[in-house]
Amino acid sequence: MNRENYWASQTFWKKCAIWVTAVMFVILIFLTFDSVSKITAGTERVPEYSVINKKVFYKYSEARDILVPEICCEAPLFGKKLSNDEAADLIDLGKLTIQAKNCMNCHTLLGNGAYYAPDLTKAWLDQGWINESIRENLMVDFLLDPEANARSFGTNRKMPNLDLTEDEAKAVVAYLKWMSAIDTNGFPAWFKPIYQKEE
Ligand code: HEC
Repeated sequence: MNRENYWASQTFWKKCAIWVTAVMFVILIFLTFDSVSKITAGTERVPEYSVINKKVFYKYSEARDILVPEICCEAPLFGKKLSNDEAADLIDLGKLTIQAKNCMNCHTLLGNGAYYAPDLTKAWLDQGWINESIRENLMVDFLLDPEANARSFGTNRKMPNLDLTEDEAKAVVAYLKWMSAIDTNGFPAWFKPIYQKEE
């Protein structure tokens, strides 16, 4: 073989392709495990499912210059304290409902979805739910009949009735509460939380 033109030979480029593919494959496997360890419930930024038994609110962090979720005190969803497994089952049903009804067609959750309707990542703390004592019930009523309970906030956009059962609506609320407790690095930005009573 003519050594001078080795870099232009077929063997060289074949070897390059094999090496690049092999190295990227290893990096991809590493990144997959790294991501999974960061998005699993019960890790630094993603709380356990039983967080729905607690009060979730937002506090301004000067060091990070964003609002970060803070979790404190007992505040069981619908007044019923759940074990971590029970909470996981409920949140699972919420997630399945959200997937089955394709809420992402209009909404965004954790950066995925559409921008026709409000971002749901922090919907649990949306000002539209007026105050913490009536929020849970307002949310369930809204999900069961979003046309009659439309708020629309000057957009004239209405959510259609998606025929959720009461159990599904409550599970969706549990999912939204859990999701709001995830530290998303301040995403979505410019979010103004509901009035928060000091403990
Ligand atoms: C066809 C588009 C569309 C689909 C599909 C849809 N929504 Fe909505 N949703 C809207 C619109 C528009 C609004 C704002 C109107 C309002 O608040 O009255 C809204 C508002 C909401 C709110 C209040 C948001 C906030 O920040 O306060 C929640 C919660 C919600 N939707 C949940 C859901 C869930 C859960 C699903 C799936 C089961 C779903 N939506 C599917 C259009 C949609």
